[in-house]
Amino acid sequence: MTNTTKDKGRIPEAALTGSLREYRVPTGTDMIKRVDGFFQWQDLRRSHNLWPYAKSTATAPRTHTTAKTDCGTDLSGVNFASQDYLSLASHPRIKEAAQKAITDYGVHSAGSAALLGNTRQSLALEDEISDFLYGRPTVLFPTGWSAGFAAVQGLVRPDDHVVMDVLAHSCLQEGARASTSNIHFHGHLNLKAVERRLQRIRANDAQNGILLVTESLFSMHSDTPDIGALRALCDEYNAMLLVDCAHDFGSIGEAGLGHLGLQNMVDASDVIIGSFSKTFASNGGFVSVKTREAAEYLKYYSATQTFSNALSPIQAASVLEAFKIVRSTEGKQRRKSLMDNVLYMRKEMGLHGLETLGDPSAIVPVRVGAEGLARIASRNLSGLGAIANLVEYPAVPQGGARFRVQVMSDHSKEDIDLLVQLMQQAMKDAEVEYRTYREDENSIMHTPTISTEEPTSQAA
Ligand SMILES: Cc1ncc(COP(=O)(O)O)c(C=O)c1O
Repeated sequence: MTNTTKDKGRIPEAALTGSLREYRVPTGTDMIKRVDGFFQWQDLRRSHNLWPYAKSTATAPRTHTTAKTDCGTDLSGVNFASQDYLSLASHPRIKEAAQKAITDYGVHSAGSAALLGNTRQSLALEDEISDFLYGRPTVLFPTGWSAGFAAVQGLVRPDDHVVMDVLAHSCLQEGARASTSNIHFHGHLNLKAVERRLQRIRANDAQNGILLVTESLFSMHSDTPDIGALRALCDEYNAMLLVDCAHDFGSIGEAGLGHLGLQNMVDASDVIIGSFSKTFASNGGFVSVKTREAAEYLKYYSATQTFSNALSPIQAASVLEAFKIVRSTEGKQRRKSLMDNVLYMRKEMGLHGLETLGDPSAIVPVRVGAEGLARIASRNLSGLGAIANLVEYPAVPQGGARFRVQVMSDHSKEDIDLLVQLMQQAMKDAEVEYRTYREDENSIMHTPTISTEEPTSQAA
C-alpha cells in the first residue's frame, strides 16, 4: 500500500536518517506484524518524497524515459538509471528475434532445464557463450542472481571454505551461506588480506576445497581486482578462482570480454559467472566452467538450475541476438561510444565540482555523503528532470551515499551535459536545505523551553 498523500511539512528526522539494516532482524513471534517498523519508516520517507526506490517506467528504458516514483510522483527526463549499457533493450534486431521466438514457440519454456525446459534458442545461446569464452562449457540460469548463487552453492560443500571480498554481490554471499559456515570475508580488493586468509585456512586444512570469490567489476564502487594476483594466490594455496563479471562482460574491452579479457584471465578463471541483464537486454545469467563434467554437475546439483524454470524462448532468442551484436563491429562501436560517454561524463562531473569514484565503466558512482543530504538531492534531481539511482547504507558504507549513474552507449553528449548540470543544481539546493534543516534541528535541541512534536526517534 502506497502513501500517496504528500506531507508538505517539515521533514522529520527519521525520514533523513536510519537504514534498511535496522529492520533486517526484527524480533517477536508474529513474523508478519514484527516487520511493520520497516513500513512505517519507509512510508514516512515516501510521504516526504524521499523514497527513491521501486520506480516504474511507463516507456522503454531508453536514454529519455517517463516513469513514476513509489511516492506517486511522475518523472520524465534524461535516464541514467537503467542498466542497458550498450542500448540493446530496444534494438530492432533483438525485438525482431524476440517476436520470431514468440511466433515459433509461444512465450514460455514451460519447464526446468533439467526436464523439458531447454529450447533450440537456449542451446544455441549456451554454444554462443561457450564459443565467446574460448570453448568452456556453459550452463544457463533464469537470472544472473540465480547463476551466482548456483555456482557457489553447487560446488561448495560444508567442510569447504569460501574466501570472498566483503563487497561480493548478495547472490555470491547467499550461495556461500547456503553451502558452508566456513566463510572468510576480506577487505575490499585487499590482496594481503586474501593471502592471510588463505594461509590461515591451509595451515589447518589441507583436505577441503577453497573457493576464492571475486567480481571483475564491483558495481557500487566501479573498481576491479588484480585478477592475475588472485590467480597466483589460488595456485599457491590450492584454491579455485570464481569471477562474477555481471557488469563488464560485453560492455568493456576491445572484444567485449570485460576485465577478464583486458587482464587476459579468461582461461585462468576456474568459474565465470555472467548476467544478461546489464548488457544483453534480458533477464538471465550463466555459469561457465572449465570442464564438461563440472557443467553437467551444476545442472543437477545447483538448486536454481534444477528447481527453477528455464529461460523463456523470448529471453534466450533476445540474448542470442544480443551476443551476435556484442561480438560484431557494431558491438565494438557501441563499446567505444559507451566508454567515450563515460570518460566525458567523469571529466565534466569533475569540472562541475562533482566527485566521481572508482574506475571508468558503465557505472559512474558520484559521491553525495550523508544519507539525509543524499535523499534530498535525489528528490531534487528527479524533480529537475533527470533520473539516476541513489545507493545508500548498507549497500555502501555509512555516510557514503552516492548516485550510481548508469551510462548507455546511446546517450549523447547533450544528455550528459544535462545530467551534470541538473545534478550540480540538485546537490547545491540539497546542501542549502540540509544545512538549514540541521541548524533548525540543533536550535530545537538547544532550546529546552520549546516543546516540539517533531518525531525525533527513528520509526522502528
Ligand atoms: C555482481 C553481480 N552478480 C549478479 C547480479 C545479479 O544479476 P541479475 O540482476 O541479472 O539477476 C548482479 C546484479 O546487479 C551483480 O551486480
